[in-house]
Amino acid sequence: MAREVIVELHRNSSQCEKVVGEIVKIERKLFPKHESLARSFDEELKKKNSGLLYMHHGGGGGGEVIGYVMYSWPTSLCASITKLAVKEDYRRQGHGEALLKAAIEKCRTRKVHRVSLHVDPMRTAAVSLYKKLGFQVDDLVQGYYSPERDAYRMYLDFDSD
Ligand SMILES: CC(C)(COP(=O)(O)OP(=O)(O)OC[C@H]1O[C@@H](n2cnc3c(N)ncnc32)[C@H](O)[C@@H]1OP(=O)(O)O)[C@@H](O)C(=O)NCCC(=O)NCCS
Repeated sequence: MAREVIVELHRNSSQCEKVVGEIVKIERKLFPKHESLARSFDEELKKKNSGLLYMHHGGGGGGEVIGYVMYSWPTSLCASITKLAVKEDYRRQGHGEALLKAAIEKCRTRKVHRVSLHVDPMRTAAVSLYKKLGFQVDDLVQGYYSPERDAYRMYLDFDSD
């Protein structure tokens, strides 16, 4: 059976165009227009201090993209998880958790104190996953996504050592 592998996307890699194409398709399917990065994906990837990890079936790097997570560290204090998604057919197999853990580790290496994110409270699977990995709800931000759609602001603090 093919093993799943998590890889960091590098803009100059030969795989980049194919991978971005697959991710844009997933974005269009899973997220409403105003929440989707499908149209602005290239711009997002060009931003400084941001990264994208994707999971694909192992074997040469060309396998189908199963899921991805985006993160950024706009300041030296705080990082954010900006997107997390797993294709519907591959859910409940631990892939979302593996991607989120990998992104948290990337943020940890940036030496930030806190990782934060916004999530629609209706996305119960995502909220459970974030809580499972230690995120706490900080606030309910009204109208964050649209006038009718709020967001939880959640955060995870790293121990200072
Ligand atoms: C959220 C998402 C990434 C989870 O991916 P996944 O691969 O299915 O998650 P995992 O199998 O790794 O599950 C890990 C934990 O997440 C939670 N979880 C996942 N799916 C769940 C569900 N349907 N209901 C409740 N909790 C769920 C559980 O805590 C689970 O731990 P457990 O297996 O010990 O119960 C996936 O459901 C998804 O892509 N959703 C749509 C996009 C989205 O909402 N993204 C977040 C906002 S940007």
